[in-house]
Amino acid sequence: MDETDKSNGANKNTQAADAARRGTRTARRIALLTAGGDAPGMNAGIRAVVRTAVGAGLEVLGAQRGFEGLIYGNFEPLPNRSVSNILQHGGTILETSRTPEFGTEAGRTRSAENLRYRGVRGLIVMGGDGSLAAARAFANDTAMRVMFIPATIDNDVPNTDFSIGFDTAVNTALQAIDRIRDTAFANDRLFFVEVMGRDSGFIALSVAIGGGAEVVIVPEIPFDLEDMCRRIEESQLRGKRSSIIVVSEGPRTGGAISIANSITERLGMQSRVVVLGHIQRGGAPTARDRLLASRMGAAAVQALINDKPSSLIGEVGGRIVEVPFEEVAKGPQPFDSELIDLVHLLSI
Ligand code: F6P
Repeated sequence: MDETDKSNGANKNTQAADAARRGTRTARRIALLTAGGDAPGMNAGIRAVVRTAVGAGLEVLGAQRGFEGLIYGNFEPLPNRSVSNILQHGGTILETSRTPEFGTEAGRTRSAENLRYRGVRGLIVMGGDGSLAAARAFANDTAMRVMFIPATIDNDVPNTDFSIGFDTAVNTALQAIDRIRDTAFANDRLFFVEVMGRDSGFIALSVAIGGGAEVVIVPEIPFDLEDMCRRIEESQLRGKRSSIIVVSEGPRTGGAISIANSITERLGMQSRVVVLGHIQRGGAPTARDRLLASRMGAAAVQALINDKPSSLIGEVGGRIVEVPFEEVAKGPQPFDSELIDLVHLLSI
């Protein structure tokens, strides 16, 4: 028996003792999964769910690779020690996927059967807006209670000020921008920096303000080439010789490479392009994301224990809130376009 087996065995004894102490005659089980794009802090959330559940005498099953694990019955028990030494790591120990089959009623029915067969009473889903829609459909179609924890670097989930992973992604992108700024200044250059957020400009906006960009281009606001050219020319007339323009990735903005090409055509200016890409999704979560994930994970388990209806666990004004699925706003978190004016105001 290796050390892990020994500690797993010891842990089962502890769980059994805990359950007996609380008067529960049969083990109560919940399941947990991470879905969609991974977000730094998911592991801290997994740890919080497991530790809170074990402390309350519950068993936790982890579904592998998101909703795929529910559909194909791929689960692993998550005893207390299985989450040791993970909270400081990016990614997710449960792995994740985007699972179109879960969009079908057949996929959800099969998932519910797999959970019931294993005696699971409640499900916790960690993910972004697509995972929220899936979690709501599942709670609607089946008797399973579902708690949803927003975890996406995009920060576009409604009814929460922050999603797990956003703070880390913004800080990672800012570290890159600080470095780019050094070389941009040294060479009098114009740089286009592409950040993540195919359908959401929250990362771009925060990075543009925090990184002192000249212009920010986001999917929520139609791209205006003339406006951008005017701003670049005016900044040069004011004596600026280097500038940074932050662009959200994806077809709605066209991406940094094509925008840089149109500037060359329109103004004859050379520029450099940096695409930060998936670097923003990896790495150690910030203190803020660890704290948020720990609070939301614990609150999700508590909500299941207290028999609350299926809900989104959010953070609003610094407080953790439970928002029943029926009350969750339709569409993404509203975009504060006034902050774009702040980018321009501070870049003169
Ligand atoms: O949803 C998070 C996110 O990282 C977006 O910012 C990005 O547009 C998308 O996922 C990329 O997804 P994938 O890793 O599947 O290409």
